[in-house]
Amino acid sequence: MSTSWNVILKRLGIVAVVVLVLFGVVELFAYDVIKIQFVSFMAISPAMQPMENPLPVPSQSIPIEGPAYIPNMGAPKNPVPADQVSIARGAELFHINCTACHGEDAKGDGPVAPFLQKQKPADLTSPTVQFLSDGAIFMVISNGFGMMPPLNENLTVRERWDVVNFLRTLSNSSSSAAAPTATSSTGSSPTPTVSGASATATPATAATSSSQTEPEATEEVARPSNPGGPGDAINLTGDPNSGAQIFANNCQTCHNAQGKGGIPNPGSSDGTFPSLNPIDPTIKNSDLKTFAYNLDLFIQHGSTPESLPGAAPTSMPAWGDKNALTQQQIADVIAYIISLNP
Ligand code: HEC
Ligand code: HEC
Repeated sequence: MSTSWNVILKRLGIVAVVVLVLFGVVELFAYDVIKIQFVSFMAISPAMQPMENPLPVPSQSIPIEGPAYIPNMGAPKNPVPADQVSIARGAELFHINCTACHGEDAKGDGPVAPFLQKQKPADLTSPTVQFLSDGAIFMVISNGFGMMPPLNENLTVRERWDVVNFLRTLSNSSSSAAAPTATSSTGSSPTPTVSGASATATPATAATSSSQTEPEATEEVARPSNPGGPGDAINLTGDPNSGAQIFANNCQTCHNAQGKGGIPNPGSSDGTFPSLNPIDPTIKNSDLKTFAYNLDLFIQHGSTPESLPGAAPTSMPAWGDKNALTQQQIADVIAYIISLNP
């Protein structure tokens, strides 16, 4: 009997050793003591690497979170008309979701603002923000921007557009409130450099000095402060109708509807963004090539207006240099401005 027990114990021992050894071998692989290069589909998938653009959405997909970012497709269009209902809803939603940081008056001075050390909330009434397209503001609310958190979980797609429509109303109301005293300065067209000694006239005689500068021959053509030659746009044929749309989307926030001017630009010596309708007489020219050339330099390279001492007025963006508009779009908008100044 005892011998058979011995045999059984011996065999169990062998089995245990074999099992342990096998287990140990498996663990060697499991814990990568011995590495095996498995075929990994993760490694060869189109994964997003750091510093790469986000993957484009697959074709045929329908974004349920509203418009998505698609490279080179521009900002999404606002599908919600800015009617009374939308603006009223937007105001309510703004009050709930944005005022903690941006403040009741949207100037960026909400109760939370003092605690945000790195980046203060933006002044939503400023031209910098108002200059953004509806779609761009929508994307900021949806995805956040810099230190601003994404609010797509707080607001539905429709609600976000309502807030955008409400924000648009702020540019007008604030501009009348912020009207600087400098608006009293002569007209909306920038005073061109005068080559005569009369330019040094004292402010008291400003009225007479401006009448002295009247003769066109002594006036230099207004040029942008940023350097650079003409862009390809002046060799293209512009379409004034499409230019009108481009103007409404990009230029109107500063230059006003139909380029009528009069919107305050605090800190600039003119006090307002220049009128393009009528446009500065030195830019206008009966030779349309020259007229287009004069406009093109401003639109390609942008320009910082003359400022009051120590002030920082808003500049004209460099649409061409920054590729914010294509050359064809610039040609279209030039054609539109020319059509405003027959
Ligand atoms: C938690 C605080 C906070 C809340 C809430 C908040 N914002 Fe902001 N927002 C910021 C900060 C901070 C910035 C500046 C971000 C930067 O420049 O990095 C900013 C910037 C912006 C900008 C400017 C973006 C740009 O391109 O310059 C817009 C537009 C904006 N916010 C709109 C909104 C709207 C609309 C809401 C409400 C739906 C809202 N924000 C709610 C903190 C907030
Ligand atoms: C953010 C505000 C802003 C926007 C947006 C803007 N401009 Fe301007 N623009 C200015 C300012 C400021 C000046 C004056 C520059 C100066 O005096 O040097 C100016 C000057 C001009 C001038 C020269 C007129 C003059 O009398 O000096 C033209 C032409 C012009 N802008 C066209 C456009 C067009 C076209 C667009 C849209 C594609 C546009 N601007 C968008 C701010 C803006």
